[in-house]
Amino acid sequence: MATLRSRNWFGPRTLDGFMHRAYLRAEGFSDLVFDGRPVVGIANSWSELNNCNAHLRQVAEAVKRGVWSAGGFPLEFPTISLGEILMKPTTMLFRNLMAMDVEECIRAYPLDAVVLLSGCDKTTPAMLMGAASADVPAIMVTGGPMLRGAWRAEELGSGTDARRLWAERRAGRLTDEELCEVEACLSRSTGHCMVMGTASTMASMAEALGIALPGNAAIPAPDSRRLALAELAGRRAVEMALAGGPKPSEILTPKAFDNAIRSDMAIGGSTNAIVHLVAIAGRIGVRLPLERFDELSRTTPLIVNLKPSGKYLMEDFFYAGGLPVVLKELLPLLHGEALTVNGRTLADNVRDARCWNEDVIRPLAVPLAKEGGTVILFGNLCPDGAVLKQSAASAHLLTHRGRAVVFENHDDLARRIDDPALPIDETSVLVLKHAGPKGAPGMPEWGAAPIPARLLKQGVKDMVRISDARMSGTSYGTVILHVAPESAVGGPLALVRDGDEIELDVPTRRLTLRVSDEELARRRAAWTPPPPHFTSGYGRLFLDHVLQANEGCDFDILRGRRPVRAEESEGPSRL
Ligand code: FES
Repeated sequence: MATLRSRNWFGPRTLDGFMHRAYLRAEGFSDLVFDGRPVVGIANSWSELNNCNAHLRQVAEAVKRGVWSAGGFPLEFPTISLGEILMKPTTMLFRNLMAMDVEECIRAYPLDAVVLLSGCDKTTPAMLMGAASADVPAIMVTGGPMLRGAWRAEELGSGTDARRLWAERRAGRLTDEELCEVEACLSRSTGHCMVMGTASTMASMAEALGIALPGNAAIPAPDSRRLALAELAGRRAVEMALAGGPKPSEILTPKAFDNAIRSDMAIGGSTNAIVHLVAIAGRIGVRLPLERFDELSRTTPLIVNLKPSGKYLMEDFFYAGGLPVVLKELLPLLHGEALTVNGRTLADNVRDARCWNEDVIRPLAVPLAKEGGTVILFGNLCPDGAVLKQSAASAHLLTHRGRAVVFENHDDLARRIDDPALPIDETSVLVLKHAGPKGAPGMPEWGAAPIPARLLKQGVKDMVRISDARMSGTSYGTVILHVAPESAVGGPLALVRDGDEIELDVPTRRLTLRVSDEELARRRAAWTPPPPHFTSGYGRLFLDHVLQANEGCDFDILRGRRPVRAEESEGPSRL
């Protein structure tokens, strides 16, 4: 049995020990809780400002049941919560702040293990980043996807259908009244977006990495089985606290990241997963170059038929067997021996998984596509890489040459995109600058720029779009994202001008600005950086330390492990 860190707080017969016990008894605990049982922290990102996580208090109660029943002492604490829909300018600006919050709470409090409750997009990677740096035994329970949207006879998938129907409205094919009806039935329960967007992808990544229990990713938020799983996670956290592990550093190994990347490719996961996986890996000292994603993508078939790449929703995925079935199918390509949080290997966990709907989860031998959902591009327009979700792109645009129509920033885009005088057609390449980590700031999900209404009315559904932004995991289209280095730090994207020819060639993974080196050098000499968005506060910290997209957009000062030490409980007396 491991030495419990919490004993440094509650064990000593000193003034500090006396104070720690006495003050906590204000909450009505008997002295039994100080009998040497492990303390399990429940990091809860519940918030009414974050609809996706609004049910996490109930989930926390289920975790507590599990902790008590296994002989532990649960203590729930709040973290900041990043609600994708309401938080401006973008939750990505605050992912690292939340990671700091989680890490420092784990470090500062008397916790022997921690259960991480996340849900909405950035809350999952933020918690994993913080927990990885602190390296206390940790287990993640995500909140689960919301129920399917339902409008008339149609099933609706979160952002994917919201965007599609909004485009229909802009094209004049949907009335205000109809849109009003859609508004009422798109999100009909708590839980995160129920397409394979960023939240579903990151929940799947947590499971594939092995830091969540098998089956965690797909159970719908309102399904009673999610609470049962939360209870089991609480019980398991007590065992981990007593054993002193496994710690995140024992689970988040290079092999686990390979498993996660392959799973991401097989499920047609969100492009955001790349940024987040790189950031999580950076916390644990695992190097994940973008090339590794492309390498594994080329040899991992797409087998999950979920929106926005495919047809179904997370509820269907759950009924078909969920991620364990995907992992079982992928086993020949995975490191099955990777350790997971329940103490068993990945292969052991999924050995008995069965698929109940092969149109939702295809057998490996009959994939939806031979390659994974996401590809990495390089070229003189993105020397440090760019990302494209080919599974959600238009096949006819994957090899394309077109003239650039350039927007200097998001305001410029909003102002001119529907200008009837804009010289643009379906062959144009829409370029958006200053949408990256420093330029926007926070690298918002602006990448899936709208198709001009004039072209929509002509039936154009997709165009090549390029930016240093991200895009929502629920979006679709031939959208090139995460261009690095970004335009605000002088990346080649900053030098693109209206009318330049750009060539996209997905089969060779090239993105080329067809302008001579001499001309680019002339433009570079004339380029000046934009003024910073912040000169003080958290924004200043962000601008001073944020890394580029290919490095995960973490802060340079936060990379690596800073494991908690038992002696961190020693501090000056409170009196
Ligand atoms: Fe929270 Fe989509 S809005 S996951």
